[in-house]
Amino acid sequence: MGKELLSTQPYKGTRDFYPEDMDLRNWFFGVIKDTLRKFNYREYDGPMLESYEMYAAKSGEEIVNEQTYHFTDNGGRTLAVRPEMTPTVARMVAAKLGSLNMPLRWFSIPNLYRYEKPQRGRLREHWQVNVDMFGSDSVETDLELLIVASSLLKAFGADSSMYQIKINNRRFYNDLFEQVMGFDKEQSRKVSKAIDKKAKMPQEDFNEYLKDLGLNDEQVVKLNSFFEMPLAEMTALCPESQGAQELNKLFDLIDAAGMSDICEFDFGIIRGFDYYTGTVFEVYDTDINNNRAMFGGGRYDNLINLFVDKANVSGIGFGFGDVTLENFLVSHNLVPELNYGMPRVLVTRFPEIPYGEYLKLAEELRANNISVSVYTDDKKLAKQMKYAADEKYDFAIILGEDELKNNTVVLKDLSKGENIPVSRQDLVAKILEK
Ligand code: HAM
Repeated sequence: MGKELLSTQPYKGTRDFYPEDMDLRNWFFGVIKDTLRKFNYREYDGPMLESYEMYAAKSGEEIVNEQTYHFTDNGGRTLAVRPEMTPTVARMVAAKLGSLNMPLRWFSIPNLYRYEKPQRGRLREHWQVNVDMFGSDSVETDLELLIVASSLLKAFGADSSMYQIKINNRRFYNDLFEQVMGFDKEQSRKVSKAIDKKAKMPQEDFNEYLKDLGLNDEQVVKLNSFFEMPLAEMTALCPESQGAQELNKLFDLIDAAGMSDICEFDFGIIRGFDYYTGTVFEVYDTDINNNRAMFGGGRYDNLINLFVDKANVSGIGFGFGDVTLENFLVSHNLVPELNYGMPRVLVTRFPEIPYGEYLKLAEELRANNISVSVYTDDKKLAKQMKYAADEKYDFAIILGEDELKNNTVVLKDLSKGENIPVSRQDLVAKILEK
């Protein structure tokens, strides 16, 4: 029996990024960074491993108990591979609270790990753009995050028919549960978990779920009516609620910002993390084949308090994943032909010419922002040319004895198949003119 070979497949739910996949990822990140810089957000980064208790404290049951990869290190510490970035950024802000000038606008693009059932739009490793603002609790700040989210999609060429921002407010729905539905804290928590799962189950199952939580028929009907009710009517049910006032103000601002067509109140937006306290939102692709949220975020008032007592610094932000972004861009035909950013040239070689001549030529071209490789093997010219064409070089250069003598080269334009004799002096200009 032959020896058993190892699998070439990456771990389930993770991806290998071959060079063409990296081209796409680098394009994603480039567009995102350029856009965020226009809004004055500064990039930060943190470690991949954090103490497990940081997530156990505030992230929420599902993510901590079911989705976090964790282990004990040789020193007996329980660590987690980061499933999200928000606790890390809160820790970093808390550590330097005294010296940071508020409000802060920060972003990062970490890779995150979650033990999920891999499916369209959800993997076990993804890259997540995190955009957060700290130290301002105005509703105008909430609006800024919505504008930034929308601008990121527009920077990829999306128009407003392609996505929808769905908004709710945690203070509001907690007040509504307490004051209008008569729930206690525990019942409110359980009902909000049920609503979070509502989209994934038929209406009858949702009703049964609510009854199992102790709601009577009348309460089930009333709760269901909230999903149809316009915002003004709903906030009028508990007008004193801070959350209701924040929602009304936010929608006035959305109107003033000309974003009413892409933003809507949605009572179904609950958000799984325990740390959110105010505005919560998710962005959805209008293509129903991509039914997973592309962005998720919200305001969190108490996260920094995990690290600094009575810090009183509010944060608001969102995460935006690369997997859902790719599905979005592909289904709306928004991925352009990606080019290398500079012309690519292969310098072919003949064994009788000193190799140093080729190296010298390559350096001359690189000094002029041209991407150059010299063919390193001793193969027939036809083979070298075939390699250049297969690898989609823009040009191949032939430098034989005659050319060396006359201080020229033959420049082959591989897209046209033309051979052009060019003096060494004109070579750079000829390549760059393409
Ligand atoms: P989240 O809703 O868990 O929020 O994730 C935000 C986005 O990350 C999702 O809408 C989705 O695009 C992407 N994402 C999440 N999990 C996966 C996965 N398993 N596979 C592929 N993509 C995924 C958070 O993580 C919050 N910490 C975001 C935040 C930042 N809130 C405030 N600041």
